Parts: sequence; C-alpha cells; structure tokens
Amino acid sequence: MRTLVTGGTGYIGAELVRSLLNDGHEVVTFGPSSNTNRIADIASDITIVRGTLAHSAETFNVVKDQRIERIFHLGSMLSTPSQANPWASFQVNVVGTMNVFEAARLFDVPQVIFSSTIGTFAIGAGRIATDFTIQRPTTMYGAGKLYCECLGRFYKNRFGLDYRAIRFPSVIGPGTTQRTVAQYNSWMIEYPTLEKPFECFVTPETKGPGMYFKDAIKSLRMLAEAPLECIETLNYNIGGLNPTPTASQVEAAVRRHIPDAAITYNPDPLIMQYYASAQVEVFDDSCARQEWNWAPEFDRLDAIVSDFINEVRTSPEKYGLG
Ligand SMILES: NC(=O)c1ccc[n+]([C@@H]2O[C@H](COP(=O)([O-])OP(=O)(O)OC[C@H]3O[C@@H](n4cnc5c(N)ncnc54)[C@H](O)[C@@H]3O)[C@@H](O)[C@H]2O)c1
Repeated sequence: MRTLVTGGTGYIGAELVRSLLNDGHEVVTFGPSSNTNRIADIASDITIVRGTLAHSAETFNVVKDQRIERIFHLGSMLSTPSQANPWASFQVNVVGTMNVFEAARLFDVPQVIFSSTIGTFAIGAGRIATDFTIQRPTTMYGAGKLYCECLGRFYKNRFGLDYRAIRFPSVIGPGTTQRTVAQYNSWMIEYPTLEKPFECFVTPETKGPGMYFKDAIKSLRMLAEAPLECIETLNYNIGGLNPTPTASQVEAAVRRHIPDAAITYNPDPLIMQYYASAQVEVFDDSCARQEWNWAPEFDRLDAIVSDFINEVRTSPEKYGLG
C-alpha cells in the first residue's frame, strides 16, 4: 500500500516509516525538514518529499502525484514552538490538518490516522483522564489538536472518511531533539547512557503519563489495521507506563544501570507553569483496549529504561546519536 507519513522524518515518524517498510509498504514522507538523520539507512528505500502542510497546494500535490492510499498524519509543530509562535502553529497544525483531510477527500484516500495529544486535557481534567473527560486545553498546541480531533470526526460524518486518531502521552525514546514539557523522561535516560550530564528542567516530584516509543508505533499500526466496525470512539487515549513515575523515580531506575549518572535539577518556571494546570496522572485507555484490543508491550519503568539504554548503546546511529 502506498502510504504517506507526514512528519515522517521526525522522532515518531521515522520509526513508523521503518516499521511500514519492514512490512512491505511503499512509503512517502512529507515535511519541511532537510534533516534525514533518523532515516539515513532507509532513505534510498522511500520517497522523501519536501514541503509544508501549511500550503494546500503542496499538500494536495504530494497526495495526488504519489498516488497515496493511506495517510498517517504526524507532521506538526510541538508544544513549545507552538507557544512561542502561535500564528505559525495555527497554519501548520490547524490549517495543515484541514489540508490533509481535504487532500484525502479530493484524491480518494479512504483512511487518515491523526496524532493528537494528552495536551488536549487541562482545566478540570483531574487526576484520571478518560476518553469522556472534558477537554479544555490551555495551550495553542492543545487547542489546535483538539480542533483537529473534532474536524476529523466531521470529515467522517460528512464525507465518509475513515478517520481515526491516537492521543499520545509523553513518548519516551532515544533521539528526541525538541525540549517539550515532558522530554525530561527521555533525556534522563539518554544523556547518562551517552555519558553526558543532564540538568532536569522539572522538579523531582513532577510526574506526567508516558509511553515507550516502540508502543507508540505499535498503537498507530494497530489502530490503522483495526476493522472499521470496531472503531466507535474515533479519538483514543493511549497509555503505556503504569504507574506514572515521578522524575526522581525515573532517575532511580536509571541509576540501577548507571550508578554514577550525572543528573541534577533546575526547574524551568515556564514548564512548571504547565504542570500546575496539567494534573493528569492516569491516562485511561479503556476504549482502545475494548474496541481494538490495545495493550502496551512496555508498561513497566524498568523494562523501558533497560531497553532504551540497550538501543542507545547498540544502535546510536539509528536514532541520530551516532
Ligand atoms: N513525542 C511526543 O511525546 C508526542 C506526544 C503527543 C503527541 N505527539 C504527536 O506526534 C506527532 C509526531 O511528533 P514527534 O514527537 O515525532 O515530533 P517531531 O518534531 O520529531 O516530528 C514532527 C514532524 O513534523 C514535521 N513538520 C513540522 N512542521 C511541518 C510542516 N509545516 N509541514 C509538514 N511537516 C512538518 C517535522 O519536520 C517533523 O518531521 C506530532 O503530531 C505530535 O503532535 C508527540
């Protein structure tokens, strides 16, 4: 199947591309980035199209010219850049997603899988967020993603698009480059493995739901393959790590492997402001479990830390760390 992955050279996108390729799909990536470090070893096996989601014609062209049959829409500005430049975020995340849905409608692509975020939950969400918890985001990123969740539902109802989406919590894995509110988990493991010091930008008590990157890919693939009649909720919370650890618990798990890890704390007031309103601790994914049998493979902190360290030590180049 000819599959488009918007944002396919990014952190999650690159791993999805690798997984699709392994299963015999023809893969096209679309995005502005000239940094193809994460897919260097497979670049000659895929089609890489440079362009921006913010321009409808560029988005339409890639879908039409490449004869796309399925879209994983991962291209996005993340939380911190969206806060810094909400105007660009609106064009890329909101208008860009509308462009993807329009391209699917105009060029008969039956299915679009969208990647949303736990950041759509904020005010009043409380400690446990289910798929039925009211979403009242406070950030540009969360507001844009929530609008697109609703837009996807509209395209399904109005035009019959097979729209489905996952709300990721913080995705923990090697090679993340963006300092988003929750990336401390990944860097807390990665930096000591690379023998680099890590200054954690949240307090030791901070906690936010997370999942391992291998499970993030598994969830995208499972959701896309689930029979249409099983898909009722459309936009699904996806959990992984259980229970949600504090930063100091992640540190302790790292120290079991790397006792002399150089980890210190210097909380960033802007990031701590986010945690003051984001209190979700349990990201309830019952609907995904019931409707399409979702279950993470890595739900324990120790299993994640140990696999993560092994990945960085054995294949650093695969994650742009070589
Ligand atoms: N990493 C996480 O913890 C996390 C959590 C929740 C949701 N998500 C979602 O998962 C998806 C992938 O995120 P990621 O973590 O791989 O981040 P990333 O920044 O590594 O990847 C985002 C990709 O989007 C591309 N992109 C940016 N602007 C674009 C534009 N104008 N047009 C086309 N593409 C553009 C980038 O080039 C990059 O390849 C995003 O939609 C993100 O919102 C990620």
